[in-house]
Amino acid sequence: MIAPTVEDVDAFRRAIALRMGLRFDDDGLALLEQLLAARMRATSAPAAADYLERRMPASAEISELSRSLSVVETYFLRNRDQFSALDAILRKRAQAGPKRLRVLSAGCSSGEEPYSIAIMIRETIPDAAQWDIGITAFDINPDGLDRARAGRYRAWSLRETPPEIQRRYYTVKGDEFTLDHSIRSMVRFEQRNIVEPDPGFWRPGQFDIIFCRNILMYFTPQAMREAVERMAGSLAPGGYFFMGHAENLRGVSAGFHLCHTHGTFYYQKRGDGRTEDGEVRESIASQSVSEPLPADVSWFEAIAEASARIRSLADAPPENAVKPPAQPDTPRADMAKAMDLWQRERFGEAQEALSGRANVDPDSLLLRAMLLVSKADSKGALSVCEDLLRLDELNAAAHYVKALCQEHMGNLREAVEHDQTAAYLDPQFAMPHLHLGLIARRGGDNATALRELSTASGLFAREDASRIVLFGGGFGREQLMALCRAEIRAAERAS
Ligand SMILES: C[S@@+](CC[C@H](N)C(=O)[O-])C[C@H]1O[C@@H](n2cnc3c(N)ncnc32)[C@H](O)[C@@H]1O
Repeated sequence: MIAPTVEDVDAFRRAIALRMGLRFDDDGLALLEQLLAARMRATSAPAAADYLERRMPASAEISELSRSLSVVETYFLRNRDQFSALDAILRKRAQAGPKRLRVLSAGCSSGEEPYSIAIMIRETIPDAAQWDIGITAFDINPDGLDRARAGRYRAWSLRETPPEIQRRYYTVKGDEFTLDHSIRSMVRFEQRNIVEPDPGFWRPGQFDIIFCRNILMYFTPQAMREAVERMAGSLAPGGYFFMGHAENLRGVSAGFHLCHTHGTFYYQKRGDGRTEDGEVRESIASQSVSEPLPADVSWFEAIAEASARIRSLADAPPENAVKPPAQPDTPRADMAKAMDLWQRERFGEAQEALSGRANVDPDSLLLRAMLLVSKADSKGALSVCEDLLRLDELNAAAHYVKALCQEHMGNLREAVEHDQTAAYLDPQFAMPHLHLGLIARRGGDNATALRELSTASGLFAREDASRIVLFGGGFGREQLMALCRAEIRAAERAS
């Protein structure tokens, strides 16, 4: 057998991305090299080209590869908050909807996720036995499916399962927990690759709820988009879509409303004229903010005050002021000019530069909103954010600006909710964490303050420069990091 070359390993990486959706960066190349050599030996391929062209295309070989490449970590009732949200959805359905429910668990690993769904259905719908219920679960990896069908688990898989649920649905023998047949029989398992189109399976509108958690985070952007499109197509209008905590649909699909209830995020498919399930939705009651921030120290005020101070100096530019570069008269040039003026803190002129632009461009809407924040016009800024969110509901920055405005209007719960949404939608975005930290600190919740400020401090080190310009309230990167450190010290002293 001829040992694989660097080019062979790269071709293997591309083939894995194409056939299985999985993304490997350069750190993963050593693993791929070993796996390629092992699979060439196992399939008696004389050279990598032979393996890649003649053996790897077979579905059975993809199945073999998945045994080595799958991340299989899972457990019962993982992300408990999402099961609370599911509980609320099921209750609503039990009151109003037809007694029929189709649920999909995509990438079910060893079965803990679909079985948790089955348990939740049993717990929530008293007459579930009279319902027409189908839970389908699939995974690419046959080893996980074997374990799922056996229904036997170690205590570690039940680490988040309350004792009363353990007593009701499991039989314990030694250190093994066997799941009750009544739950096992509710789930149908099959081996399936989410990357492969199969119109017979992905029939339009057939599922009411899809769980696809902690798979797509390992996918290439293209594979993720295609898988989401496939799942969106097979979800009924108004149906629900659950992803892992570290996953979101920003920049992937505009076909869903974002839901934020029970301290967690999930999605509802658009398309039946309903909005984001107002009845299920509840604001985050668990956030411990004990009293409103004094207006003179709020982050909103800090931005508005810095802006006002600078505006008074800068709106009448000195004779020798450097003029922004002349730009051709196009919408993009207007935006560049407005950003340039904003950066020079010439807010009035920035606003003028935007005046000719239509209200359909997310960047200019954001700048418009921040110009209104700089004038302490939170109602106006909120309304611009609403326009922006109508265009792009998953725009993290719009949620952050809404958080600033809500804080300014004294609505701290709403501010926290929008900051959390912004941080969820864009995990690299430092500002919402800073804002959450400041709100928590002033509300006396030093543990939350320390966590959020430390996160913000880490993120500011690599935050996008243009975001610092737009949202930094006149502070630069170093100053924002210093602000985080000062606030952390104050929170440590207070705790
Ligand atoms: C980390 S587990 C997630 C299990 C469960 N959804 C959870 O969140 O606890 C990821 C699962 O996705 C499966 N998977 C990865 N690529 C897949 C593909 N192309 N098609 C179907 N399943 C896939 C893996 O085999 C693995 O079992």
